Amino acid sequence: MRHFLKPSDLNAEERISVLNRARELKALTTPPTEQNLRVGGLYFNPSLRTRISWEQACWRLGASCQTINAGADSWKMEMNPHAVMDQDKQENIVEAAGVLGRYFHLLGVRSFPGTESWDVERTEPTLSAMCQYAGVPIVSLEGAMHHPCQSLADELTIREHFGNPEGLPVALVWAWHPNPLPMAVPQSFALQTALAGCDLRIVRPDGYDLDPEVMDEIRATGSKVTVTNDRAEGLKGVKVAYVKSWGSMPLWGQTDAEREFRSGLRDWQFDRNTWNLTDEAKVMHCLPVRRNVVLSGEMLESEHSLVFDEAENRLWAQAALIEHIAKREGLI
Ligand code: CP
Repeated sequence: MRHFLKPSDLNAEERISVLNRARELKALTTPPTEQNLRVGGLYFNPSLRTRISWEQACWRLGASCQTINAGADSWKMEMNPHAVMDQDKQENIVEAAGVLGRYFHLLGVRSFPGTESWDVERTEPTLSAMCQYAGVPIVSLEGAMHHPCQSLADELTIREHFGNPEGLPVALVWAWHPNPLPMAVPQSFALQTALAGCDLRIVRPDGYDLDPEVMDEIRATGSKVTVTNDRAEGLKGVKVAYVKSWGSMPLWGQTDAEREFRSGLRDWQFDRNTWNLTDEAKVMHCLPVRRNVVLSGEMLESEHSLVFDEAENRLWAQAALIEHIAKREGLI
């Protein structure tokens, strides 16, 4: 059984096929045909776009979808399969996953990293347990390492605006934020655009490197990759600027130390002056975004902003992805 936990969990042929199908589904005006396909969405963290677009993607396919907010409208879950459960948690992930696997043919799971060291968080304990015990395909709706549904929608958005993105200069640009944020979105965007053959620039201050395993996978694609702390150099000539804040890997889980480390970086906001360093780039962000902190309101509202296209494309990319997995697994 194959899961979808990172962009490269679809091979090149599958990726292009899913992206083409997403565009077909986006253009369809006929009502859905009912399918015998039951899909779940299990959330350990809040969401606006993912939850709604996942449910709407299922509706578009004629599948049913149910959302479970773990610990809020279900029992408190113990993540350690070997725990002696004599404290406040009522259900172990082993039983919860096994039961959900009986109700659903396919399950999306969102589980952000916690505050352990990066060495621990990068192993994705919750997503890994769901893959191990649910017995059905698991789709990551954002983990510690990747947000592959977001990056699939981002590639769809880039293709809508630029066609085949091979050789297209795109930049992943770090921005200041009051808190150290997860690395899943930037890592997936970088890997997705490298898989698509883009000329990728990673523009970040020193101390904000991506996970070495992700960088190895990015370099193995053979696409051009540049990593720099110089915004003028990194943004020169770029057609897409993907703005995102993320935490420093060595300081992961040490929130106060991380905040201190980034205290001198507040000018890393993406505003009109930063945009002027690009070649009239389209501006992307996965949302939610801290307006006038990460991205200026002016750039968010400008004609260059693609943030609503990206958010909408979550629906179509996920519909195509769910259909692809369901067909591959012989579910529809
Ligand atoms: N971009 C994204 O995943 O949004 P949500 O956190 O609102 O789902």
